[in-house]
Amino acid sequence: MSIAVIAGDGIGKEVMPPAIACVDAALARHGQAVEWVHYPWGSDFYLAEGSMMPADGIDQLAQHEAIFLGAVGLPQIPDTETLWGLLIPIRREFEQYVNLRPVRALKGVPSPVAGGDGIDLILVRENTEGEYSEIGGRAHRGRDIESALQVNVFSRKGIARVARYATELAKTRRGLLTSATKSNGIIHTMPFWDEVVREVVSAADGVRLESILIDALAAKLILAPANFDVIVASNLFGDILSDLAGAVAGSIGVAPSANLNPEREYPSLFEPVHGSAPDIAGRGIANPIGQIWTGALMLEHLGHAEAAADLTQAFESVSASGIRTRDLGGISSTAEVGAAIVAHLTDRT
Ligand code: NAI
Ligand code: MG
Repeated sequence: MSIAVIAGDGIGKEVMPPAIACVDAALARHGQAVEWVHYPWGSDFYLAEGSMMPADGIDQLAQHEAIFLGAVGLPQIPDTETLWGLLIPIRREFEQYVNLRPVRALKGVPSPVAGGDGIDLILVRENTEGEYSEIGGRAHRGRDIESALQVNVFSRKGIARVARYATELAKTRRGLLTSATKSNGIIHTMPFWDEVVREVVSAADGVRLESILIDALAAKLILAPANFDVIVASNLFGDILSDLAGAVAGSIGVAPSANLNPEREYPSLFEPVHGSAPDIAGRGIANPIGQIWTGALMLEHLGHAEAAADLTQAFESVSASGIRTRDLGGISSTAEVGAAIVAHLTDRT
């Protein structure tokens, strides 16, 4: 099995080595291994070559079983270049229409909100269409009649497939599916979203659907975070809710995510929720758990469920034992947290 590694920029380069070491250690417990193929793409590549990845980048990535990504983004380069030059093309070319973001409080990691320690939900974000479309434009630049237009794109197929994924997931959990909507203000796309989600869920047994307006949902996530099980949301709403839910769980530094092509026609992409964190990059203090937890999601997707469970258990115990980075109130470095998790996995062999 071969995995493409794009560590990228900033703290992406710092959290990737410990995460790879942890995944290797978890696999070794079961006599297994994967091949890591490193691609030096990202902002440094952009500054040297004028693009985030080579013209045949997608073809190169297509040869791997999965893609493990750190983060991209550099203050000197517009985010539109870094995001649309690497991450968004990968998500779209490989039809990774599910962005999966599990949010669970880690033992011993305090939540900034009351009841936040009880959060245990999975966010299923639509990842290929919706509000993040390429359709639109700017007219009359610089004049007082200047205007900008961005067209939201929602298709029946696009909504149905992500709703189906979320419904199946809810069946394996507590059976509650919350759909984020805004059909009172956005009167064409959101009622359509509601309708198709309802159709998909009603065709399935054992899943209860609640549709909640996004503004009220944001408040409820803060006030009663433990009441949610699976949340399905459009691209923009899911993006915002995932940072919100991640913050409720304690730190964006621990939040994992998977960009899945559920049919497995193309490789899926695994990346932490956080970005390149230029404010702390280069100091060796970034929390590697977001990247490590993401590695566990990748192992699970690749069929290594036992190694994934071992890895999850290892970072949970290490975190509970007090070996934590500063964002979680600890004093350990990125490398120390990684080494403690590897030691935990190696010890019990
Ligand atoms: P960010 O996630 O990089 O940082 C937000 C805050 O959280 C910062 O204060 C940072 O220090 C802290 N933080 C993030 N990860 C952490 C970790 N592992 N350990 C400890 N603290 C952590 O988001 P921001 O600042 O909005 O974006 C920075 C750059 O990253 C931008 O260029 C942005 O476009 C890019 N970005 C890239 C993403 C990706 O590659 N998937 C996702 C989000 C942002
Ligand atoms: Mg985001």
